[in-house]
Formats: sequence, structure tokens, C-alpha cells
Amino acid sequence: MTETNDQLWKAQPGEPEPLEELVKTGGHPVGLDVGTSKVVSARRGGKDVACAVQLNAFIPVPYSPVTERTIQQQSEIHHFRDGDNIVIFGSATERFANMFNAETHRTMADGLINPSEKLAWPVLEQILRTLVPKPRAANEVLAFSVPAAPPGKEAQLTYHEATLRKHLQAGGYRAMAINEGLAVIFSELEDHNFTGIGVSCGGGMCNATLAFLSIPSIMVSVPKAGDFIDRAVGEAVGEHATRVKAIKEEGLDLTRAPRDKLEKALHIYYEDVVETLVDTMRRETSRAENLPKTDRALPIVLAGGTAKPRGFRELFERTLRGRKFPVEISEIRMAADPLTSTARGAHIAAMFEK
Ligand SMILES: Nc1ncnc2c1ncn2[C@@H]1O[C@H](COP(=O)(O)OP(=O)(O)O)[C@@H](O)[C@H]1O
Ligand SMILES: [Mg+2]
Repeated sequence: MTETNDQLWKAQPGEPEPLEELVKTGGHPVGLDVGTSKVVSARRGGKDVACAVQLNAFIPVPYSPVTERTIQQQSEIHHFRDGDNIVIFGSATERFANMFNAETHRTMADGLINPSEKLAWPVLEQILRTLVPKPRAANEVLAFSVPAAPPGKEAQLTYHEATLRKHLQAGGYRAMAINEGLAVIFSELEDHNFTGIGVSCGGGMCNATLAFLSIPSIMVSVPKAGDFIDRAVGEAVGEHATRVKAIKEEGLDLTRAPRDKLEKALHIYYEDVVETLVDTMRRETSRAENLPKTDRALPIVLAGGTAKPRGFRELFERTLRGRKFPVEISEIRMAADPLTSTARGAHIAAMFEK
């Protein structure tokens, strides 16, 4: 870290901040991607769809009147008081974590509200408040993404979904949950009549959904994605997961032979995640009874932050084509904007509900 603390306290102009204006105006259907690493909202902004992003993380710092006042003067630092602490949340969290050399806290783990974090829900509520405006009209539609239930965690998913729905309904929305893979299909496969496979590889998990004419037939999730890669690589080479994450995001290239031990480990765990995901998709598709008959091959679209490195698409295609897949696949392509695809898809789903 080369910046001085002084610089760290200042606004970072390039950072994605919630679109305050958009949030103030209200009055349109909302799409919300509630992800383990990031929460993204999508709404109509003029002619286009505008997305706002907030890091789904927080960090408590010790309360003192001076600290509180200093933080209050920085409009871009979201925070609230919690007893002896000030809780910093959202996109400013990473800067504070670097400053105090501490790990960030997460409101969610493996795609669901984090049961072992006392502040998980109070913080997530605040994060949503920065991204979702008060609705102008009664019963405005809001669609929020939920993962497919990880095996054995069905009850936890019910809790996660109901908690979000109740909160958003109390805020005045007609809130509906949409499966994450299906949201990707909504945003990327309109030209295929919402028929195909939507895949989202995020921080906490990978989700995949196979749908015919927008009706989901198979929904799977695996609790292995970006966070797992950071942790596993860190353990293998003796680095902090946070540092692995930074190196990974800086420009991992999966098409190139690894240049050092860390890159080698990144390749190994990337392959592991993709193999686990493809095997799960294959197994659940073979198992499915009553799959609609189709003589057309299905497209696959890849989205999510973990799908971003160069060569990810090729790795996925190689892994999938390397074994027999129960349905014929026409093409495998990247989402137009992998980081906002789920939120945009949820937004489209919300507009259809109007
Ligand atoms: N350019 C990138 N290269 C590699 N990984 C990335 C990149 N950008 C984000 N990620 C990773 O993607 C994950 C977050 O993806 P995202 O789709 O935002 O997740 P979530 O749905 O869990 O909120 C994190 O593990 C992050 O490290
Ligand atoms: Mg996501």
C-alpha cells in the first residue's frame, strides 16, 4: 500500500458508487443481484438501464467522537454506530481493511445470509438502502436474485429468501425472487426465446440454470467459486487470500502457461471449480426426468466476476466438451457485461411482471 492515510480518506473518483440521483427519483421496476461479494441494482435510467454497485462487506472500527466526525464528513463512506464500534460498510470497506490490515467481514457466505455473523442482516439492510430507492407507486415490482439451494441448505435458502422478501415488501415493493441462472438467461438469451443455460460464477458460488421458454427445468449451485479459489491458492502458496484476490483480478490469463507458483495454483483451482460445476450440471441434467424434448442445441452463457479472466470461456468449453453432456450444446459465450448480467436479468423479469 503506497498511499498515505490522508489520501485514503479522500473520495476515490473512479470507484463505482451508488447512483444517488437515480436512487432519489424512484418510480420504476428494480432488478437486484444480491451476491456474496457485491450487490448490484439495475433500473431504467433515461433510455438505458443503469446499474449501481455496492461491495457486500463491512468492517467495524472502534468508536470515538473524532473518528465519527471525520467519517461523517466523507459523504462516500457509508457507516452506522453499533455500541462501541462504527461499522463501515459498502465500497469504502476495502480501503479501511487495507488501512487497518484487517480482513473484511461479509454479510453473506456461500450465496446465503451468513449465519455466523451477528451484524450480517443489519448491514445488508443498510446496503440495500443505498441501492434501492423508495418506490413512487404502490406495489412497484422488484425482482431479487437467489441462488439454487445448495444440497443440504434448503432450509437456509428459505430463510434467506423470506428475509429479503419481507424487508423489500416492508419498503413498499412487490418483491419477487428470481433464480440467479434464470436471471442470466433473461438478460442474455432473449434472442433464443429465453431457452438455454445461464451460468453465473461469483464469489461464494456458481449457479447454473437450464430453461425452456423462460421456464426453468434444472437449477444447480455449487459452493465453490472466487472465494474458494482465493482461499485455496492462499493456503497452497502461503499468501493472504486478500492478496491472491488482488493478483487474480489484476489480469489472470488462463490461456497462458503459468509463470510462477501462485499462477500455477490459480490455474489448478480454476480448473477444479469448472470441473466441479460442469460435473454437477452433467449429473443433474442426466438425472432429470421429463426434460422438454427439443431438436435444437442449447446455447450456454457465462456470467459473474469469476468468469472474467481471459481464457475462462475456453476452459469451460474444453471441460464441457471433454465429457458427454446429456443435451446438445450449440455455443458457449460470455455475457455482454458479466458483472451486471444478473441484475439486468432480474430487471427484465421485474418489467415483465408489470
Ligand atoms: N477481473 C476479474 N478477474 C478474476 N476474478 C474476478 C474479476 N473481477 C471479479 N472477480 C472475482 O469475482 C468474484 C465476484 O464476482 P461477482 O459476480 O461480483 O460475485 P457475487 O455474485 O458473489 O457477488 C470474486 O471472487 C472476485 O474476486
Ligand atoms: Mg452474483
